[in-house]
Amino acid sequence: MSLFDAFRYDGKHVLVVGGATGMGAAAAELALAAGAEVTVLDIAEITVPGVKAVPVDLRDTASIDAALATLGGPVHVVLCCAGVADGTPGIEKTNFLGHRYLLEKLLAADALPRGSAIGFISSAAGLGWERNLDELKEYLAIADLGEASAWAIEHKHADYMWSKQAVCAYVALEALPLLKRGIRINAICPGPTDTPLARANAGTWLGFGAGYRAEAGVEAATPLEQGYPLVFLCSPAASGISGITLITDAGHFAAGNTETWPADTGAVRFLLGKF
Ligand SMILES: NC(=O)c1ccc[n+]([C@@H]2O[C@H](COP(=O)([O-])OP(=O)(O)OC[C@H]3O[C@@H](n4cnc5c(N)ncnc54)[C@H](O)[C@@H]3O)[C@@H](O)[C@H]2O)c1
Repeated sequence: MSLFDAFRYDGKHVLVVGGATGMGAAAAELALAAGAEVTVLDIAEITVPGVKAVPVDLRDTASIDAALATLGGPVHVVLCCAGVADGTPGIEKTNFLGHRYLLEKLLAADALPRGSAIGFISSAAGLGWERNLDELKEYLAIADLGEASAWAIEHKHADYMWSKQAVCAYVALEALPLLKRGIRINAICPGPTDTPLARANAGTWLGFGAGYRAEAGVEAATPLEQGYPLVFLCSPAASGISGITLITDAGHFAAGNTETWPADTGAVRFLLGKF
């Protein structure tokens, strides 16, 4: 035993929701390497070696219920990683509402013991959430998944940016109530990351910040580079951290917001809700 063991996951059961590919798969591999038992839930085929694979469609509460019924024991870390791009039907469910439904089922069943942690993958696209907090609170107050989805569609919010703002607001709003139960909740907000999802939308996703990265001499992040901070935030080493949405974009938003990289100041301030 050493002080550094607080970064490890020995004896923990980790649930990775959306862990078939990309950042979720990287986080699942990291959690395994850190000593955890890992269950991956996904709509796609799960080939990550060493994990228990369970199919789920986050747009369907019956499918989520069926996936949860296979767990049969406590979960110490939930990594909420699934996501789809604009234009995908049910985006509001896949990117947020389905994750929330799953978490609330686990909480209602007392399946997350004290010391547990929840880690979402939000996005730099969700960082302007504070400006919309009143409307986000109205949305988040709708407990039923179907009714919340209908609200999002009716209010023209069934889109990527709103789904990620909802994640950021949920993390901030739930930090206190969850901590009273001994549970922490945080999110990372990645910049462009080289995953199947980003490649499928390469022009908008991987093109964003390309000039900044060329100036800095860095590439788009790897899935592993996003998995590391996500797994850290849910480790005992991060026991003092809850309610944060950590920007994991190699400094792009910091440089844009401060005009250190003025070419992206407008875009960054727009996404931060500063306009
Ligand atoms: N790649 C980027 O540049 C980037 C940047 C910021 C945020 N993100 C976010 O990171 C997260 C991970 O995405 P990624 O880039 O690793 O892409 P990815 O496509 O590799 O991973 C997303 C996973 O979600 C799963 N999924 C999709 N729909 C589902 C559903 N209905 N039910 C269950 N699982 C479903 C997919 O099968 C896939 O395994 C997403 O939330 C995404 O929005 C990505």
